[in-house]
Amino acid sequence: MLYTEKDQKYKRYTVTTALPYANGPVHIGHLAGVYVPADIYARYLRSCGEDVILIGGSDEHGVPITIKARKEGVTPQDIVDRYHNIIKDSFKELGVSFDIYSRTSCEEHAKTSSAYFKKLFEEGKFIEKVSEQYYDEEAKQFLADRYITGTCPHCGNERAYGDQCEACGTSLNATDLINPKSALSGSKPVLKETKHWFLPLDKDEEWLRQWILEDHKGDWKTNVYGQCKSWIDAGLQPRAVTRDLDWGVKVPVEGAEGKVLYVWFDAPIGYISFTKQLTPDWEKWWKDDETKLVHFIGKDNIVFHCIIFPAMLKAEGSFILPANVPANEFLNLEGDKISTSRNWAVWLHEYLRDFPGKQDVLRYTLCSNAPETKDNDFTWKDFQLKNNSELVAILGNFVNRTLVLTHKFYQGVVPSIGELTDLDRQTIEEMKTFPERIGRSIETYRFREALAELMNLARLGNKYLTETEPWKLVKTDSERTKTVMNLSLQICANLALLCEPFLPFSAEKLRNMLNLEKLEWRKAGNAELLAAGAIINNPELLFEKIEDDAINAQIQRLQDAKKQNELNAWQPNAVKQEVAFDDFGKVDIRVGTVLECTKVPKADKLLQFKIEDGMGTRTIVSGIAKFYPNPEELVGKQVCFIANFAPRKLKGVESQGMILSAEDKDGRLVLVTPSQLVTPGCSIG
Ligand code: 2FM
Ligand code: ZN
Repeated sequence: MLYTEKDQKYKRYTVTTALPYANGPVHIGHLAGVYVPADIYARYLRSCGEDVILIGGSDEHGVPITIKARKEGVTPQDIVDRYHNIIKDSFKELGVSFDIYSRTSCEEHAKTSSAYFKKLFEEGKFIEKVSEQYYDEEAKQFLADRYITGTCPHCGNERAYGDQCEACGTSLNATDLINPKSALSGSKPVLKETKHWFLPLDKDEEWLRQWILEDHKGDWKTNVYGQCKSWIDAGLQPRAVTRDLDWGVKVPVEGAEGKVLYVWFDAPIGYISFTKQLTPDWEKWWKDDETKLVHFIGKDNIVFHCIIFPAMLKAEGSFILPANVPANEFLNLEGDKISTSRNWAVWLHEYLRDFPGKQDVLRYTLCSNAPETKDNDFTWKDFQLKNNSELVAILGNFVNRTLVLTHKFYQGVVPSIGELTDLDRQTIEEMKTFPERIGRSIETYRFREALAELMNLARLGNKYLTETEPWKLVKTDSERTKTVMNLSLQICANLALLCEPFLPFSAEKLRNMLNLEKLEWRKAGNAELLAAGAIINNPELLFEKIEDDAINAQIQRLQDAKKQNELNAWQPNAVKQEVAFDDFGKVDIRVGTVLECTKVPKADKLLQFKIEDGMGTRTIVSGIAKFYPNPEELVGKQVCFIANFAPRKLKGVESQGMILSAEDKDGRLVLVTPSQLVTPGCSIG
């Protein structure tokens, strides 16, 4: 049973997590926004003895996947196979406790989503409309969703997509975009007629307004409520649920050749088709009013889960609606927006490789810093600090001190509890309040607050040890020491139970050390979880310090990614102002052969060349030393130089001209040389 009264009417919980697109691995933004909170919620419910399923899977349709496949010259199926497996394995390793993690390219999903469409179609729930859609005449293809980019009419973002602007989160129709451009050929698309099926959302406005803006007022998070309100207030429009594409679930009606279901139509049905795969008894999870349906998503998915999917569920008629949609805001990385294309991310599978056995450290950092009410920032320094100063210094330290002393004083046997002092009683009373404090925060989706409370319990333990000083007490009062140690061990046992939703790996480790079985949440708060005389195993460290080297390596990787992005974004300089031929003719450019080349003493950048110029020799000083560390290797090479440059002195050497070099995008200077040997002194023009 849960603490929140309105939750007590539910018999079971269907918890879903947004389906990540299988066009890349998952990163910390996905985790902090969706998967860590959803997993905490599901683990907590299970620990409370509730009936719960956690549903997830990969979103394998949609244009981002076909775009990636096209870029790599492979099939969309190749792409989704690759990333589905990476994503699935990394979630498992992080301990995300899915009851099923499936995928939308599977057969059951095609069957379910296709039947769903057919039912609505046959019941006349769609409107059929011929409308003008953008078409790429070069690629001979309609440009659905991300195949088209342009300027967002709401915020001016120049890289908005045909279905959505990621900068302001607005859901768009391709025809809303200003200056539309085909993502396939870069050409300006034309409008061409095509038939599609639309969900008439305008007809849903009234009940949606009542259901979200009235019934869920003060219940749903303000960011979710606010986005829904502005959508509804702006007036809902019919929305196309089919596309002219060849990758996706085929539209199962006549006259729909070459059309598939819109990815945002089939993907949320995935929650249902995956439940079907999980259990033949799937209907009770979707069709019973005593089931609480909760969708964990990121803020860019709000409209789809709060308005469009509920409209689809309502149109079908037999499904329950979500009771809550606790969407998070976005997590940034080192002050910059996380971006898959710019490789500005911490990828889960790479983290697991670089920090083996430290799943809970990431879970802890992401939860304690989760973007619950506003965008937040992840930094590697903060990650290190949270590990070293919180997990190691507060939680790990308390558990370790208690267990080490138990072994030292009592060879690992739990001592009996004696007479209680006021401090003991106060500590027990305070300990009793934690399960409800943590539980209520989780039930109301305030996971940061819940985790902070958990750490307060560890702090209570540390305070108790500091005040009682059993390491000194043992020399003067062995009976009192037993009580102190017994109580400290009870706090450890409570921590093992209460930390499970957040830190499942550490919880298991601690349970094993304490020889404690997995207990129900309601058992927490109890000061008799460990019986006197029970045996405690040898203590191991719950958390270990993370050194600067490991952190610096990660920061370096990000800096390298930033550099690479700058290079990728390089564009040639704008062409200079036009010059007349006669003006160009004034510059005397010639070819010369290098006779000598040495570094100019006390000048890091300068090389001194002796050039055979057909008329004799000349000296030219050039600022390219950094790029030619072995200047003697240039002897015999031919270079181009300006012969009629006024002589000037550089570091005491007179330079009689200028050698030409090209500046590459990374700032490197490369000497320009003729493609074949020519006679020294010949002119360039
Ligand atoms: O935004 C996304 O990454 C989508 N793939 C989420 C889909 S959630 C659900 F509805 F399937
Ligand atoms: Zn926008």
